[in-house]
Amino acid sequence: MDGPFLAMRALLLGLLWAASSSSSSSRFWIPPHDQVARVARFVVHQCDWASMATISTHKPVVGQPFSNAFSVSDGPGDSSSGVPYMYLTRMEISVQDLEVNPEASLSMSLAQTDYCRQQGFDPQSPLCAHVILSGSVIEVNGTEEAEFAKKALFTRHPEMIDWPSDHDWFFAKFNITQVWVLDYFGGVKTVTPEEYFQASPFRKHH
Ligand SMILES: *[C@@H]1O[C@H](CO)[C@@H](O)[C@H](O)[C@H]1NC(C)=O
Ligand SMILES: *[C@@H]1O[C@H](CO)[C@@H](O)[C@H](O)[C@H]1NC(C)=O
Repeated sequence: MDGPFLAMRALLLGLLWAASSSSSSSRFWIPPHDQVARVARFVVHQCDWASMATISTHKPVVGQPFSNAFSVSDGPGDSSSGVPYMYLTRMEISVQDLEVNPEASLSMSLAQTDYCRQQGFDPQSPLCAHVILSGSVIEVNGTEEAEFAKKALFTRHPEMIDWPSDHDWFFAKFNITQVWVLDYFGGVKTVTPEEYFQASPFRKHH
């Protein structure tokens, strides 16, 4: 496909979207695509789950990427920390990988929300904003942060409260070392953890 066509299409979609968004509910507001760090924060806050890739320790795919779905939350309701928290058990296949190598990658997409479907954006289109986080998974325990993780997860995933207690669940966070953002044409953009944590995912700065 050629660039001018894509640019024209994006402009048209943008105009259509601007025209329709004034009448639709405010939950479909997303940050402007050139404010990449804000888009990343927005996507992470909107998503309730992520695909997490680990380096497998399991036969017959030892050493190969292994991607699996996990419930996440970066904060309850209107509170957003930017940190994806998870509730994990060592009985879980990907967590066993993390015990050998905590490095992992999380992918989150607005395809999880009504936004992309309603705008007619295919999940693989960069207009259906998605992020890839690089980093590692770290346990959070016995701290204020663990209390925050619990509140963040249990408010958005209420059934976690009833998950079997003999599985020794623990709270963990994804420690971000690099953020990759696909939110527009022109290729992937990167955001440093500093830029990411300074940005606000909300329409108004608090
Ligand atoms: C949390 O647990 C990990 C692994 O069991 C341990 O290395 C770490 O010291 C603990 N941190 C706190 C604050 O208790
Ligand atoms: C956590 O991420 C920061 C970068 O944001 C990095 O400097 C630090 O080494 C990471 N910590 C661990 C334990 O991986």
